[in-house]
Amino acid sequence: MSYLFPTYARWDVTPIKAKGAYLTAKDGKEYLDFTSGISVCNLGHAPENVKKAVEEQLNQFWHTSNLFQIELQEDVAKQLTDASGLDLVFFGNSGAEANEAAIKLARKSTGRSKVITFIDSFHGRTFATMAATGQDKIKTGFGPMLESFEYVTMNDIDSLKAAIDDNTAAVMFEVIQGEGGINEGDVDFLREVEKLAHENGSLVIIDEIQTGIGRTGKPFAFQHIGLNPDIISVAKGIASGFPLGAIIGKASLSDAFSAGSHGSTFGGNPVALAAAKETLSTIFDDSFLTDVTKKGDKLRYLLNEVLKEETIFKKLKGKGLMVGIELNEEAGPFLAKAREQNLLILTAGTHVIRLLPPLNVTEEEIEKAVNVIVNILKK
Ligand SMILES: Cc1ncc(COP(=O)(O)O)c(C=O)c1O
Repeated sequence: MSYLFPTYARWDVTPIKAKGAYLTAKDGKEYLDFTSGISVCNLGHAPENVKKAVEEQLNQFWHTSNLFQIELQEDVAKQLTDASGLDLVFFGNSGAEANEAAIKLARKSTGRSKVITFIDSFHGRTFATMAATGQDKIKTGFGPMLESFEYVTMNDIDSLKAAIDDNTAAVMFEVIQGEGGINEGDVDFLREVEKLAHENGSLVIIDEIQTGIGRTGKPFAFQHIGLNPDIISVAKGIASGFPLGAIIGKASLSDAFSAGSHGSTFGGNPVALAAAKETLSTIFDDSFLTDVTKKGDKLRYLLNEVLKEETIFKKLKGKGLMVGIELNEEAGPFLAKAREQNLLILTAGTHVIRLLPPLNVTEEEIEKAVNVIVNILKK
């Protein structure tokens, strides 16, 4: 008997300890974790430097409220603005809250209401972010949806041309759709999206909640394409597992978020920020990020070598250490098979196995995971 609402199809794994790339369950089984808490534990579980920073903050103060000057908020905001080239930060507690803030800021600053997003996108589970999400299954039973959201097809610029109008506050998208199936936006398409949006007086919001914080080998995935977003949203990997989300936006939007216009009791919590400061100073480092790219290349190379002759294998997707293995059949059943062989992996969409190892994964761990994957996928 469980006392929890059954919103999750939970695995039969009860964690009692997790360190680095490994998670130990109550039954004594040790798993190699290529889920990283769904792109959250980007430095592995319980990294020592983050733990130390959190312990120090726990000995100072935990919560005061946003009526106070919180130095850690300024420190982490500086890290985020330096790394993104944007100017100002608002802190919340999660990805959905960050996207809510982005949508509110876009509406208020433009005086327009329509937000265009992409089919198969995922932006969260609150009313605005559920409406922004381009997947019907997320919305079933919760209608009517919040008005003024419209969906266009990724990599089809004509569908955006048909949708954008003088009431469009923003075009909002993931550079690589995470939950939707590791679907990449083409470079030319995304540049054209930005051009169209800006010519139209609409903002560009990039959801970096899954792709950000070094996951793809750059601080943020938009930087592979040289885009110039007005707002980006981040969460997940920002604080190594402590709840924190943020938007980072252009200074020109500052008037729309004046005192009293938006807020959050817990947003920018000092303990989460202590974790974020240490996490970001480790990840936003050129040699660390170069290593992420190298490890991603290695993982992709090995996967391609062992899978290329398999009929079940279609193609590899993603960038850096956000890796999708697209199959010719449904990916779901392979998760339990991987767990039987002590490897934790995810799906994305229906036909994609999603690998999100910690960004400091070792070559040995990569080889170990590839061996399990070939075992479960080989006919
Ligand atoms: C791209 C993207 N946006 C938003 C969210 C929602 O984040 P949260 O679950 O922290 O609200 C997620 C979560 O999976 C995500 O992947």
